[in-house]
Amino acid sequence: MSNQSRKRHAFVGTGGRAISFIEPLVTRYADANELVGLCDLSSVRMAFYNERLKRLGLAPVPAYTAERFDDMLRIERPDEVFVCSQDSTHHDYIVRALHAGCDVITEKPMTTDAAKCRAVLDAVAATGKRVRVAFNYRWAPFRTKVKELIVAGTIGRVRSVNLEYLLDTNHGADYFRRWHANLANSGSLLVHKATHHFDLVNWWLDAIPQQVFAYGDRVFYGRDNAIARGDEKLTRYPRYTGEPLAADDPFRLDLSESESFRELYLNAEEESGYVRDRNVFREGIDIPDQMSLNVRYRTGELLTYSLVCYSPREGMRVTFNGDRGRIEYHEFIGTHMNRAVSPGEWKIEEKPGAEAEGEWIRVFPHFASSYLVPMPEIRAAHGGADEILNAHFYGPPQPPDALGRTAGHEQGAASIAVGIAGMASILGNRPVDVAELIPLKPQARRLSELV
Ligand SMILES: NC(=O)c1ccc[n+]([C@@H]2O[C@H](COP(=O)([O-])OP(=O)(O)OC[C@H]3O[C@@H](n4cnc5c(N)ncnc54)[C@H](O)[C@@H]3O)[C@@H](O)[C@H]2O)c1
Repeated sequence: MSNQSRKRHAFVGTGGRAISFIEPLVTRYADANELVGLCDLSSVRMAFYNERLKRLGLAPVPAYTAERFDDMLRIERPDEVFVCSQDSTHHDYIVRALHAGCDVITEKPMTTDAAKCRAVLDAVAATGKRVRVAFNYRWAPFRTKVKELIVAGTIGRVRSVNLEYLLDTNHGADYFRRWHANLANSGSLLVHKATHHFDLVNWWLDAIPQQVFAYGDRVFYGRDNAIARGDEKLTRYPRYTGEPLAADDPFRLDLSESESFRELYLNAEEESGYVRDRNVFREGIDIPDQMSLNVRYRTGELLTYSLVCYSPREGMRVTFNGDRGRIEYHEFIGTHMNRAVSPGEWKIEEKPGAEAEGEWIRVFPHFASSYLVPMPEIRAAHGGADEILNAHFYGPPQPPDALGRTAGHEQGAASIAVGIAGMASILGNRPVDVAELIPLKPQARRLSELV
């Protein structure tokens, strides 16, 4: 393909995540795609990205600070804008990009509250442009395997699902160091994190959520909880980097110890005010760290869901009850030492038992012996999902995916709808109808009827 006809991509949000999409775009997929601009609050972070391009032997691209986003669209004329900024800002960039005539790919969650979600739905309706949501969870081969089993009718019609998700004191704690710890930024972890899980259930069941009832509390993170547990000494400093008192703190994250953290966050603090290593036992955190929900779908299925953010191990256990049997799906990584983001220092425990770790699926048919389903062996990032997703975003056009893994704005809305309704339920202590908050095609019965 000639340079003239390459698809033009611009990115807004150049923090930790965007590199997973930019690096493949400018290398493996560069024949058909071109990076034409970066936009972020921080010039330092954008300079880091341009330095990464230089290391790949590529020229820097124009960098626009956030207030010049519209200039970037006008001057660089991207065909598609990839939104990878803080969650609460997604809607604004999606809407502006659509109205400038661009298609959009947005990181999950599509946005963080009902009004912002309605603004995105309205902008798509007004412009006719396309939004895709980067639900990488759907694209991991072992989760695809679950979908295949359900679609094949292996356990008949699925009537209920139980999904338990555990975030550990390493990855889970990391959300409480950063902007995610405030509802206004992330919509809570019921939106920021659980959007993946609700999307999976919507997609696995091909179902649209109708009503949500939820409880949620903060029982572990925050100053009060540490003091109540007798851990007052872990509350004595506002952040971890350069703090001698934090030397033995198991929640410590020292930004100066990693090159990318130094360059992306520490060096950009003065300019952007973003402190990436705040004490997880500080005051001011306003999101729950354990949440429990019940969801009823338009087609009658029930979901029982729980999310715990302070577990010694990380992963999920999902069980599907069908009218001809049951599927148990298990996805756990080893337990971690409480050190964030320095994988070299994690101590992965010996596997406690053959089926206790890793990914496996066991089918329990009614009136027949259970069996383990052979699983693909994957060792790539995010269970191999990111690579497959990048091929989908940047590779040659493919025929429509038989498993319906592409998620547009309506499916993006159906996923955050559960978390947004869940937070409304927690705050109002009542069941909440999704339709009160977000209009999802009222006549549709199945998720696959939504774009
Ligand atoms: N699917 C996944 O596996 C996955 C993993 C990590 C992050 N994410 C998503 O990616 C997005 C970015 O997360 P991250 O981990 O890179 O976070 P980050 O904090 O490292 O980066 C966020 C970036 O957004 C920028 N930003 C904040 N407000 C802005 C504004 N108003 N305008 C422009 N830029 C602004 C910040 O300066 C920062 O560079 C989030 O939406 C997150 O949910 C997805």
